[in-house]
Amino acid sequence: MKIEIIDSYKKISRRVASIVARQIIYKNRSILGFATGSSPIGTYSTLIKMYEYGIIDFSEITTFNLDEYYGISEDHFQSYHYFMNTNLFDHVNVNRENVNIPNGIGDPKTICEEYNKKIDSCGGIDLQILGIGRNGHIGFNEPGVEFDSTTHLVELKKETIEANSRFFDSIEDVPKKAITMGIKTILNCQKIILIATGIEKAEAVFKTVRGKISTDTPSSILQLHPDITLFLDEEAASKL
Ligand code: F6R
Repeated sequence: MKIEIIDSYKKISRRVASIVARQIIYKNRSILGFATGSSPIGTYSTLIKMYEYGIIDFSEITTFNLDEYYGISEDHFQSYHYFMNTNLFDHVNVNRENVNIPNGIGDPKTICEEYNKKIDSCGGIDLQILGIGRNGHIGFNEPGVEFDSTTHLVELKKETIEANSRFFDSIEDVPKKAITMGIKTILNCQKIILIATGIEKAEAVFKTVRGKISTDTPSSILQLHPDITLFLDEEAASKL
């Protein structure tokens, strides 16, 4: 595991965006894996600026998002479809046909099988961006997840529902289930970038880097990935 400790969220965002930009320039048909949540927002806004300055071109890339709430429609203001559109896709020249986010509505088995097939048919993900939950979840792979899981339906843990309730009008509105890429799918990505900032992530970061590899902290499995870099601020790195 490589670790970069950077003193501000803005600088982390610029650093991560520059790695994504390099990937796109190096291979214009790159398969990129995106996350939602607070952690990558700065990266996405920096990528939008790079696109506006003519530095990068999204027209040939394919994207796969990690996850989507189950039971809400694409146009719900808290769906991850909506998040990606408003924070990135609406502002760059990505080909919508090449954007993949799990469906939040429909038969979960079919949704998961089709998502797995699509990832496989593209030959896997070149570069995956991850955030991390306070309980060590990656995507929505919550503690107890099988390490050999591919895309699947999950019941969200109480702490995840509580953490995500900040985006909803009330905690009752937070979906209780989600569809997520599995741990095996994430481990299969060529290169992984994990962003974590703030003191509330310090324990999860510690367990990710120094903890025993265990499904109690799903992110601990990332210790086995050959090409992962953690981009941390000082607070998130404070327990290392
Ligand atoms: C979102 C995702 C989650 C988040 C995690 C951290 O697509 O996969 O694992 O990355 O919950 O969320 P933030 O960045 O909001 O702290």
